[in-house]
Amino acid sequence: MVTTVGIVGGAILTLVAVILHLSGGSDWKPREDISQDVIEKRAESVPETDFPEPSNRTLGGGGAVAAVGTEVAGEGELADEAEIDESPAAIPDDEAATFEVEYAKEGKTVEVKENETLLEAGEDEDWDLPYACREGQCISCAGHVADGGHAEDYVEHHTNQMLGEPELDEGYTLTCVAYPTDDLTLETGESP
Ligand code: FES
Repeated sequence: MVTTVGIVGGAILTLVAVILHLSGGSDWKPREDISQDVIEKRAESVPETDFPEPSNRTLGGGGAVAAVGTEVAGEGELADEAEIDESPAAIPDDEAATFEVEYAKEGKTVEVKENETLLEAGEDEDWDLPYACREGQCISCAGHVADGGHAEDYVEHHTNQMLGEPELDEGYTLTCVAYPTDDLTLETGESP
């Protein structure tokens, strides 16, 4: 008796489970394949490089797009290299010319190499000269070339982002990015 009830109950449960399984699965639909859209959107947003990466080929941008990307990246790379090479700081010590810089307020004339900034040379003398960013992006380190005329007759600024032509013409300089190109007299702590 108990065995018969168990068998019948088990069969009913199995039947119910099968019915639920079949009815639950009948509404399922596969999602739309958006992988191609994703790849194309990514191709638009990711900058091309000059490397023949497999991703460039799989992005579907085509040879023409890859070629344009290569040209632009190549130019940027060349510009970066030129900028680095153009910095006077890159001149080897044994090839760098030396100039006489009179620090008027400090009362001393110092020999400064063309690969050294006016700020660095002053700090080498243990003078507490003003500065903040050391990248030509503020004006904390400004000084004045007292010899008269345009500051860049005496120094080369590398990455000056603050002083315009009028200030330079009055002799103002950013000592943190100013490399001497001639003898000069400097008044430190002077800003336009
Ligand atoms: S310290 Fe900022 S420009 Fe020189």
